[in-house]
Amino acid sequence: METRKLGYTELKLTRIGLGTWAHGGGNWKFSWGPQDDQSSIKAIHKGLDSGVNWIDTAPVYGLGHAETITGKAIKGMAHKPYIATKCSRVWDDKGNITSNLSKDNIKKECEASLKRIQIDAIDLYQIHWPQPEEKLPEAWGAINELIQEGKIRYGGVSNFNMDQIRKIEPLHPVASLQPPYSMLKRDIEKGLLQFCRNEGIGVVVYSPLQKGLLTGKMTPERIKELPPDDHRKLDAFFQEPLLERILEKVSQLTRFAIEREKTMAQLAIAWVLRRPEVTSAIVGARTPEQISEILPGASWGLSQDEVLYIDNILEN
Ligand SMILES: NC(=O)c1ccc[n+]([C@@H]2O[C@H](COP(=O)([O-])OP(=O)(O)OC[C@H]3O[C@@H](n4cnc5c(N)ncnc54)[C@H](OP(=O)(O)O)[C@@H]3O)[C@@H](O)[C@H]2O)c1
Repeated sequence: METRKLGYTELKLTRIGLGTWAHGGGNWKFSWGPQDDQSSIKAIHKGLDSGVNWIDTAPVYGLGHAETITGKAIKGMAHKPYIATKCSRVWDDKGNITSNLSKDNIKKECEASLKRIQIDAIDLYQIHWPQPEEKLPEAWGAINELIQEGKIRYGGVSNFNMDQIRKIEPLHPVASLQPPYSMLKRDIEKGLLQFCRNEGIGVVVYSPLQKGLLTGKMTPERIKELPPDDHRKLDAFFQEPLLERILEKVSQLTRFAIEREKTMAQLAIAWVLRRPEVTSAIVGARTPEQISEILPGASWGLSQDEVLYIDNILEN
């Protein structure tokens, strides 16, 4: 699979990275319902065997569980994939999640992640959310120290706006930004992508399938049957009045993909990757079949006319 250099770093990331949020399993605040660990491990192995060279995870996904599963999946591999994980989201004994950007917390979180993933250094360590904002310089200082200590290779950020990046950039270069981006969430086109390009910051976008809505396989019936602890039940995109309009667009886009002997999920990936500022798209896959279906999207170069046609559907 084609790779792209991530910002100023020496990391060459494949255009698709494997996301592990759903690998966290059920029964926590932002769960995706029950998930079979063996299926998660098989999805990771399938992705890596097919050429994906990096995994995105986070301590908060399943309150440590997704990182543990990633560690199990890559244990003993002679050539390990790049590992990107995050810090700032912490939880208490009752599973209440809060944000902590203190230096002590970030150092503690890093040690815990290294242990769970069973690696000596994290390739890309990202501040998950910029909260509380006044603590950003302290947090970025901690990340810089972790680089000096050899525990992480590069520092990145997630869910930051331009001002928040500007606050920390003078202290140490920012390797990457991880923002949401999909056919249904295009906010980063209003300046943030261009800003990252100007600053030499890599962009790894999340939820390119809009949590499964852009696969052509999500129906009102399936949504009704989602388990009670699947957080998507509370997501406005999965509810009326938005859902019906979204599914109507998805059905038009699915026809467009099928006419080109591709699938809707592949189109959703090709579409985010059309932007030159985007280094890689992080795709959540719960099974080997899901990642296999998605991968051809990485090499589908949409033409200018096709992009205009799709824009027309999205804007109507
Ligand atoms: N930094 C952040 O704040 C942040 C936020 C969100 C995500 N992320 C990262 O980005 C990754 C990807 O985002 P995401 O997981 O939210 O959403 P996504 O990639 O847009 O959607 C993933 C979901 O779509 C469904 N799916 C995947 N492939 C499919 C296929 N071929 N056919 C049908 N359905 C398919 C699966 O759910 P079902 O099978 O259950 O439908 C899967 O869990 C996450 O895992 C995480 O690593 C980061």
